[in-house]
Amino acid sequence: WERPDGKPIRQRLLVVANRLPVSAVRRGEESWSLEISGGGLVSALLGVKEFEARWIGWAGVNVPDEAGQRALTKALAEKRCIPVFLDEEIVHQYYNGYCNNILWPLFHYLGLPSFQSQFAAYKKANQMFADVVNEHYEEGDVVWCHDYHLMFLPKCLKDYNSQMKVGWFLHTPFPSSEIHRTLPSRSELLRAVLAADLVGFHTYDYARHFVSACTRILGLEGTPEGVEDQGRLTRVAAFPIGIDSERFIQALEVPNVQEHIKELKDRFAGRKVMLGVDRLDMIKGIPQKILAFEKFLEENPYWRDKVVLLQIAVPTRTDVPEYQKLTSQVHEIVGRINGRFGSLTAVPIHHLDRSLDFPALCALYAVTDVALVTSLRDGMNLVSYEFVACQELKKGVLILSEFAGAAQSLGAGAILVNPWNITEVASSIGQALNMSPEEREKRHRHNFLHVTTHTAQEWAETFVSELNDTVIEAQQRIRK
Ligand code: G6P
Repeated sequence: WERPDGKPIRQRLLVVANRLPVSAVRRGEESWSLEISGGGLVSALLGVKEFEARWIGWAGVNVPDEAGQRALTKALAEKRCIPVFLDEEIVHQYYNGYCNNILWPLFHYLGLPSFQSQFAAYKKANQMFADVVNEHYEEGDVVWCHDYHLMFLPKCLKDYNSQMKVGWFLHTPFPSSEIHRTLPSRSELLRAVLAADLVGFHTYDYARHFVSACTRILGLEGTPEGVEDQGRLTRVAAFPIGIDSERFIQALEVPNVQEHIKELKDRFAGRKVMLGVDRLDMIKGIPQKILAFEKFLEENPYWRDKVVLLQIAVPTRTDVPEYQKLTSQVHEIVGRINGRFGSLTAVPIHHLDRSLDFPALCALYAVTDVALVTSLRDGMNLVSYEFVACQELKKGVLILSEFAGAAQSLGAGAILVNPWNITEVASSIGQALNMSPEEREKRHRHNFLHVTTHTAQEWAETFVSELNDTVIEAQQRIRK
């Protein structure tokens, strides 16, 4: 990639995701304040210097008036973001409805589909994203579509321009074909994804499930490279994401974080700290985790005043009724257990319904003795990676669900559990608290090495360069 004057230029990367990496708050008719959110994808792409990334997505707010839309578009442009404006009705049917009430539970094996009527809104929303991409696309750009919200997008983009380089990556699990085939729109969705040049998943298993869905449901041919349809190959592969581990490691040296660490150590002196950090989502298995902790306290009176569970539960998708029910359920269980095992001076569970800022989160990871990541299903789960990155001094233990993608990479260092088996999780808590320093060191070493060598930046670079290569190979095949 060179300019006419011979200087290299960076390839433009259009990242299309449901949500932009900024949250927008309206301050006046034509004034907005923007805050960058620090998700995994954002830090992955900030670290990639090879590409010039632009983001296209929903700003998460309803902006019905043109003046407001113009002002927000201008403010976002400074952050290299381009908004897709979705009205309230579309958000209700596409985001709350088809995405989070149908695809999300289905892909995590937590519910079978209903309300097929919302599929029309899903397609319409995907088309709206495609319109914005098409408006900003320039020849040579790479278009990288993300997640279950945008499964229809690769097809919409290729309908506009069959030469566009299109990749699609799923951040959730892709379920067994037996689950996927229950979706009334199963075939249309698979065909739409197959329009992409490269399709990526976190694990080999998810990729395999996707290929079997295409062979069993669509009758197409699965090959070691991907899926073939009448001579056209869609490449399918696993690209496990990571984190920007240096960002966490360096944060621990910052005075503000050090202060937080000291405060936490004083606050919980004499007690072992167990930590859960999750979005308050049913896939995270928070009720099951807390019930396992209760069982542990029930069976181990010795530990009752010597251990505390800090559960950070970040509110999410609060307009969806299932999430509202989950919040009440968790509060009820926490209240009951604290009533049962608490004393006048200490409670066994500190439950927070909010997120923590980055310094507070790093400090919490650093003082933790045992992290509990017990998702019922999870595409990857980067909390487990973040915890490991902050544990060079303490060498705490990670209890990890075998149903999180991270189990494939951190399995050898963690204690793997079936989160549905409360007895097993309770006994793994005992195992973790009693583990010898040598064993902890050995397990931590394994995980730390993985987390610091499989970074988010490397993940993004690998996916995009594989996409470039895939398109070149396809062109060569056609020429032959
Ligand atoms: C999961 C999804 C992401 C999503 C995030 C937060 O990690 O894979 O695509 O952005 O949850 O959910 P939200 O609905 O708030 O965007």
